[in-house]
Amino acid sequence: MDVFYKSKMSIFYEMEDTQLILGDSFKILTKMKPESVDMIFADPPYFLSNDGFTCQGGKMVSVNKGSWDKFSENGTSIEEKHKFNRKWIRLCRIVLKPNSTIWISGTLHNIYSIGMALEQEGFKIINNGVSQEMG
Ligand SMILES: C[S@@+](CC[C@H](N)C(=O)[O-])C[C@H]1O[C@@H](n2cnc3c(N)ncnc32)[C@H](O)[C@@H]1O
Repeated sequence: MDVFYKSKMSIFYEMEDTQLILGDSFKILTKMKPESVDMIFADPPYFLSNDGFTCQGGKMVSVNKGSWDKFSENGTSIEEKHKFNRKWIRLCRIVLKPNSTIWISGTLHNIYSIGMALEQEGFKIINNGVSQEMG
């Protein structure tokens, strides 16, 4: 699996043709070789946690998901959210091969920023999927 890494990677779990790496994706992606990956699936933070409430099964429940879903006690600004999305999407683009694919799940809270970030970072969006074209 050395084909993916340009510097030493700490492997959390390994099988014959599978490796699981646990860590900060900003650090992990920078340790990976450019144009080495065929497909990325990402489920990034939604940034919907703002101490608000929603209705679930007729009950009032907090929208907060966890500390990973906000930048500060006050939540996340549109600018912070978009900067974060552009940063990880840029790193993904570097490691993806030409004509490869990225699949990203999201909610209405983050998906428009993600869509804009994908276009700003040079991805081509095809229907509900997103594909990568170089050049
Ligand atoms: C929407 S949740 C995805 C949950 C996941 N699909 C699951 O089923 O457990 C977003 C996840 O991204 C993680 N996360 C946030 N920033 C990260 C980063 N820089 N590197 C790696 N994971 C990160 C959060 O801890 C959180 O678990």
